[in-house]
Amino acid sequence: MKNNFIPLYKPSISLKEVKNVNTCLKDGWISSKGKFVSSFEALFKKKFGYKFATVATNGTTALHLALLSLNIKPGDEVIVPNITFVASVNAISYVGATPVLIDINKNTWLMDINEIKKKITKKTKAVILVHLYGFAYNYNDILSLKKNNLKIIEDCAEAIGSKYGNKYVGSISDVATFSFYGNKTITTGEGGMVVTGNKDIYKKIVFLKSQGLDIHKANNFYNHEMVGYNYRMTNICASIGLAQLNRINSFIKQKKLIFEQYKKFLNKNIIFQDQIKNTISTYWLVTILVNKNKTKKNLEKYLKKNNIETRPIFTPMHKLKMYRNIKKNYKNSEKIYKQGISLPSYPGLKQKEIKFICDKINKFLKRN
Ligand SMILES: Cc1ncc(COP(=O)(O)O)c(C=O)c1O
Repeated sequence: MKNNFIPLYKPSISLKEVKNVNTCLKDGWISSKGKFVSSFEALFKKKFGYKFATVATNGTTALHLALLSLNIKPGDEVIVPNITFVASVNAISYVGATPVLIDINKNTWLMDINEIKKKITKKTKAVILVHLYGFAYNYNDILSLKKNNLKIIEDCAEAIGSKYGNKYVGSISDVATFSFYGNKTITTGEGGMVVTGNKDIYKKIVFLKSQGLDIHKANNFYNHEMVGYNYRMTNICASIGLAQLNRINSFIKQKKLIFEQYKKFLNKNIIFQDQIKNTISTYWLVTILVNKNKTKKNLEKYLKKNNIETRPIFTPMHKLKMYRNIKKNYKNSEKIYKQGISLPSYPGLKQKEIKFICDKINKFLKRN
């Protein structure tokens, strides 16, 4: 086992993905037109019950499109968690709006709905709910937030297939976004998706991502109506996505098992993220808290020496150069940042490998 490197993540690519890509190459449909794009969008809607879905180049541009489609602009405030991947906050900066960073709950690592409500001002136009590491917000909490005359965006990049109540995440916000980066639950290499229940918003997103051209009009060539973007996914990426989406149930099942095995084999004093009542996580990256910063740093080094790849938890946004001027007390973010480590979590990770990782962690913590 010692010489076998265990990566944090690796995508599971089957012959089906290879066959689909070959079809694109053989047929010549390699840009953003082609049957796989519409098939991927159609299956995505059907599988999760979304009304409208359109692909994008990645999860970051999907978020940019979401904010543009809701007309978020300079002077507006958008509430976002202090611990997330940086793209959730950068997208707010792209449209010139002001991110309002909220500390996370120390158990769920998500924002508390009451804390969000306290931060709402006249300028607050939207909230971005990030279902961190696959753990979802509560359905009723989101509905109660909606009553505040705010736009709700769900960043589901890490939570495809997660549920609140009996609905899939992304179902009840104004717009929701997904990422299909190589380490996500399903991948297209680089890729994203935007979903909404509102036809006008959907049409606006398609318009924005297609260079400001109304592609629904017949024979509409070069009649651009605004400064738009090219955020279209290629048919090649969509062909990989379609094959992956057909295998997602198996991925999610394996990821749940991986989480359960880490829980079973790791020492009982190790802390995991809490799942909110009536939600179901899809456990994107199993992330744990160990008790001291020094312990965490040394544990990372020790695991690296043992050929086990890990990642620190996301750096809190208020610690990054671009957002450092947002001064607040982020007690929970600081604590979790100092203690959080993400562990290998990809489908295909074997039980004996998880046991090996856990034995190493337990052994290290016993000595330190
Ligand atoms: C929460 C979150 N939002 C947005 C993104 C951005 O997605 P992408 O890397 O596809 O641009 C990611 C992932 O990388 C993410 O984890």
